[in-house]
Amino acid sequence: MYLSREEEGIYQGEKGETLRRMMEILVALGDIYGAERLVPVRSVQVAGVSYKNIGEAGLEWISDLEGHVAVPSILNPAGMDLCRWKEMGITEQFALKQQETIEAYRKLGVTIDCTCTPYQIYDLASRGDHLAWSESSAVSYANSVIGARTNREGGPSALAAALVGKTALYGYHLDESRRPTLLVEVDADLHGSDYGALGFLVGRIVKDGVPFFRLRAAPTVDELKALGASMAASGSVALYYVEDVTPAPPAWKAEERISIDRKEIDEVYAANPGEGADAVALGCPHCSEEELEKIAGLLKGGTVKKALWVCTARKIAEAHPDLVQTIEESGARVFCDTCMVVSPATERFAKMMVNSGKALAYLPGLAKVKAGLGTMEECINVSLGGL
Ligand code: F3S
Repeated sequence: MYLSREEEGIYQGEKGETLRRMMEILVALGDIYGAERLVPVRSVQVAGVSYKNIGEAGLEWISDLEGHVAVPSILNPAGMDLCRWKEMGITEQFALKQQETIEAYRKLGVTIDCTCTPYQIYDLASRGDHLAWSESSAVSYANSVIGARTNREGGPSALAAALVGKTALYGYHLDESRRPTLLVEVDADLHGSDYGALGFLVGRIVKDGVPFFRLRAAPTVDELKALGASMAASGSVALYYVEDVTPAPPAWKAEERISIDRKEIDEVYAANPGEGADAVALGCPHCSEEELEKIAGLLKGGTVKKALWVCTARKIAEAHPDLVQTIEESGARVFCDTCMVVSPATERFAKMMVNSGKALAYLPGLAKVKAGLGTMEECINVSLGGL
C-alpha cells in the first residue's frame, strides 16, 4: 500500500509508539484487503466499550495507548448507564471496570457519548464523507441513509483510525463495493417494527450482500434505522438502498431478485412470540426523540407490571426531560449509554420482548436471554401486563 512521506514516518515510529502501532494496524488491514492508500476520515465511532465484551485484555490494550484522537470520535454503548448503573442491577465490581474503560477513552480525547445512533446527536457525517464507524447499525445508517462511506470497523481499527485520522481505502469506501447485489420487492404495507421483521428476513438471505429495496411507501428515518440494524444482525449487511428514498447506488443491473409479502413478515412475528416475557426493552438502535415521544404517549397514565427499559443516547434524554419523566412515572426506566444487548444487567431476565429485529437476533446469543418480537404498541401492552 502506498504511504505518503508523513505516513511512512508514523509507520517508522517518528511520532511515537502509539501512533506507530496504530499505523501498523491500518497498514495490515490495507494490505489484507488490497487498499491502494489511506484516506482521511471525517469521524470515528469506536466499538469495544462494554467491559462485558472487551474484558481485562481489552481494557489493558486501550489504557496502554497515548496521545489524542485526530478527528471527532464517539463511543458505542457501554455495559451500563454511566450514572444509574445501580438501578440497572450492575455490580460495583463491573461498574469500576466500566468506568476505567471510559476514562481510558476520555484520556485519548474520545467524546464520552456512548451510543449506536451518533447521527441523531451530532453532525459527524455527510454524503460522500469517508468515516471509520464500528457499530453495525450505525455503519448501515451512515452508508445507506446518509450516503457516507465506512467499513464495519472493529474496535482496534476504529481507534487506530481515530488516532491517525485516516483509514485504509477499501471495501465500502469504493464504488465497486457499493453496487446492489439483489433487488428486493416488498409487496406489503409496512409500519414501525415491520421494518425490523423485514430486515430480519432479508439479512438472512443476502448475508453480506447489498440489497436494493422497492417498497410501496417511503419509510421514516427511524424505520430505515430499524431496517438496517436488523439486516446487520441477522446477516452482515453494511449497505442497502431504498428506491427513491436513500442516495442512489452506482450504475447496476438487477440480476437476482426476491419478493417478500405480508405473510412472510407476519411469520417472523409468529415465530418469535412475546408470551412468557418477563421484561420489555425498546431502543435498539437507541431511541430518537420521535420514538421517546411515542413511548411516552403510550405509557401516559399507566403503570408497568414488568420491567420496561427504554434505551437512548444521553444527549437525547437530557434534551427531553418531560418525555423521560412521563415514561418513568409509569415505572419504566430510561437508560442511557447502554443497551439490552451489551449490558450484563439483561442476563437476569429469562425472556425479553422487543420491537427490534436486531435485538431479536442478538439477545439469545450475546445475552443468553430469549427474545420475542412485537410492535411498539404490543411491547408496551406486555409491560403494562396485557399479555
Ligand atoms: Fe444499539 Fe445495542 Fe441495538 S448497540 S443497535 S441498541 S444491540
